[in-house]
Amino acid sequence: MGRLDGKVALISGGSKGQGAAEARLFASEGAKVVLGDILDDEGKKVEAEINETGGDARYVHLDVTSEEQWDAAVSEAVDSYGKLDILVNNAGVLLRKGVEETSVEEWDRIQDINSKGVFLGVKAAIPVMREAGGGSIVNISSIAGLKGSTSTAYSSSKGLVRLLTKSTAVQYGPEGIRCNSVHPGIIETDMTEEMLDAPGREHWLGRTPLRMIATAQDVALGVLYLASDESRYVTGSELVIDGGITA
Ligand SMILES: NC(=O)c1ccc[n+]([C@@H]2O[C@H](COP(=O)([O-])OP(=O)(O)OC[C@H]3O[C@@H](n4cnc5c(N)ncnc54)[C@H](O)[C@@H]3O)[C@@H](O)[C@H]2O)c1
Repeated sequence: MGRLDGKVALISGGSKGQGAAEARLFASEGAKVVLGDILDDEGKKVEAEINETGGDARYVHLDVTSEEQWDAAVSEAVDSYGKLDILVNNAGVLLRKGVEETSVEEWDRIQDINSKGVFLGVKAAIPVMREAGGGSIVNISSIAGLKGSTSTAYSSSKGLVRLLTKSTAVQYGPEGIRCNSVHPGIIETDMTEEMLDAPGREHWLGRTPLRMIATAQDVALGVLYLASDESRYVTGSELVIDGGITA
């Protein structure tokens, strides 16, 4: 028996990295998965791979900054699979710049994708989750959303995700809709390629008590717990997956 048998999940930023790992893991645990992204070719490959290995997935083009595209992605889940139980707001972009180096255009772009994109996802999912009698929303923040960092716009956007999550949890708990945030540390994906060049890797290993750099699967396993009914009493919480960096 799968841990997500009978569930329908929508994952943003599902074409690669952590989102793709979550799509594969959720499908292997019995969920029907809609994955959305702006990288259509990569997303269709993930969709095909899941369907060829016994899972059930559909790719949709989803730019998380567009309210219309969010509504279409949620409708795809409901039209194809009858309902929506799980939303993972995973899409995100990094900008490693301090306050004075960050232009207003860069600031707006990061907030649009990382913050507004999550707000729009939550807003689109709530009505159909209510209809299904409840649901689980998992918002991917970062350890940069728990403490200050040199990536100004990124940290600010991820801090917003933390409190949007708690606000959603207190507002929709009475309707059976849970909402939790996940705070990954340093995860080996395209996003961290530059940070994890040879000297960068040593730096981060030294700052990480477990002396490891995580894989996308390490985060996906935490997201799976929060998505599943195993976490039925968990809402408004922060799951830190960082090898002890923030400890
Ligand atoms: N990699 C890390 O170390 C790390 C650490 C903490 C938090 N995170 C967060 O984890 C999440 C996943 O990141 P990742 O490491 O898998 O990076 P990644 O770059 O491999 O994947 C990010 C995905 O988001 C998609 N995306 C970007 N803009 C989008 C948009 N406007 N609409 C829809 N999709 C869009 C990309 O196309 C890509 O598929 C992000 O929210 C990121 O901020 C990553």
